[in-house]
Amino acid sequence: MARLVVVSNRVPIPDKDGVAPAGGLAVALQAALQERGGIWMGWSGKSSGSREPERLSLRQQGNITYAVTDLTDTDVEEYYHGFANRVLWPVCHYRLDLAEYGRKEMAGYFRVNRFFAQRLAPLIEPDDVIWVHDYHLIPLAAELRRIGLKNRIGFFLHIPWPSADVLVTMPVHEEIMRGLSHYDLLGFQTDHDLQNFAGYLAREGIGNDLGDGLFDSHGRTFKAAAYPIGIETAAFAELAGKASANIMVRKARQSVEGRDLIIGVDRLDYSKGITQRLDAFERFITNNPAYQNKVTYLQITPKSRSEVPEYEQMQRMVAEQAGRVNGAIGTVDWVPIRYINRSSSRNVLAGLYRLATIGFVTPLRDGMNLVAKEYVAAQDPDRPGVLVLSRFAGAARELKGALLVNPYDVEGTANALAKALTMSIEERRERWRGMMDHLLEHDVSRWCNDFLRDLIVKTPAAN
Ligand code: F6P
Repeated sequence: MARLVVVSNRVPIPDKDGVAPAGGLAVALQAALQERGGIWMGWSGKSSGSREPERLSLRQQGNITYAVTDLTDTDVEEYYHGFANRVLWPVCHYRLDLAEYGRKEMAGYFRVNRFFAQRLAPLIEPDDVIWVHDYHLIPLAAELRRIGLKNRIGFFLHIPWPSADVLVTMPVHEEIMRGLSHYDLLGFQTDHDLQNFAGYLAREGIGNDLGDGLFDSHGRTFKAAAYPIGIETAAFAELAGKASANIMVRKARQSVEGRDLIIGVDRLDYSKGITQRLDAFERFITNNPAYQNKVTYLQITPKSRSEVPEYEQMQRMVAEQAGRVNGAIGTVDWVPIRYINRSSSRNVLAGLYRLATIGFVTPLRDGMNLVAKEYVAAQDPDRPGVLVLSRFAGAARELKGALLVNPYDVEGTANALAKALTMSIEERRERWRGMMDHLLEHDVSRWCNDFLRDLIVKTPAAN
């Protein structure tokens, strides 16, 4: 079997106890690489000041070689904060109002991709299969080809691909597309993203849908398809089953005794719809005063990208809002919203998901959302909870047993909470069973195998 080389912006190297940082992409790729071994290359998350690092730092752990580099302050600023997180991220999440185009940042993005390619190329052997992840690294294949690599190179986009009208607002959309054309396979989260991609090529007249999943653009032929990412369903269900013994989970259980728990878990990001969700919870209590002191809403929101001004503002806004809502609807013996601004271990999260009657997952836009899938996997089959899920999360296309909501509709979302809390146990079981069966069949291992199978097999028309 060909050796697998994974490249992503961040490389979450496990600590000395083998515990890797959580996060959808990190967990999925860790699982994929552990199964077959290989190299994982990317940014260490650290800055090297003003000096560009000469070489990658390599660390072998089990059958994975982690190969990481620091980045200079300027690179971090322009490539990561500047272009990746202030242009590509907001545009792909339909927040044109937050996109800040700057030529310096765009140049930094392409420069860092070239730097990654130069550091990666010496590690690559002719039969290696290279799998690049996410919006930070779109131009990487073009840079590797420039160096002369002929390997199979695939790309998976973890975030949404927006409609053509939105994408073309980005001044460098053509360069981004040219970058994508150097891959052999492009993977999107959903059919909807794939359709947006095909629609963009057709509308801009810069590519053709050749049928059978083949496309051409900029003189190259490549495949593109949807590969909805999964989780380690069986392992996560097992973790949740055992997590009730965890001290934190026990404390949480005792503290919500006699009340229903509603849980939300998100990176602190404007795409996650946290402020709209707090509004909906407040509206639910205002509309249904009988639920006062009968529910607790736990929102776990680790800080994220705090150097980016929009995220810093968001941090203040959510904290203020949680305080305001507690002040408005709380009582002397009831704090309605528990807001935690730190991350929790996977073990504790699994236990909390299982404890919660409602998984409250309402992003305004999300490529997939693995919290939704983990919430379902964590449930007790006899007394499963209800997933209240945004229709704008990629996961909504698969999790048919969820109560789908439009997060912009505060009243509708509040009503969904009421419906979930009064749902019969039979209906809860039926909805959950369908979703769980789907997740067991479409787990992360299948995602990885499907993608790599399509990447490795050359089609006659492909380059
Ligand atoms: O899923 C999108 C994503 O940007 C991943 O690429 C990344 O690992 C994760 O969110 C966390 O983002 P960041 O690395 O910017 O903290």
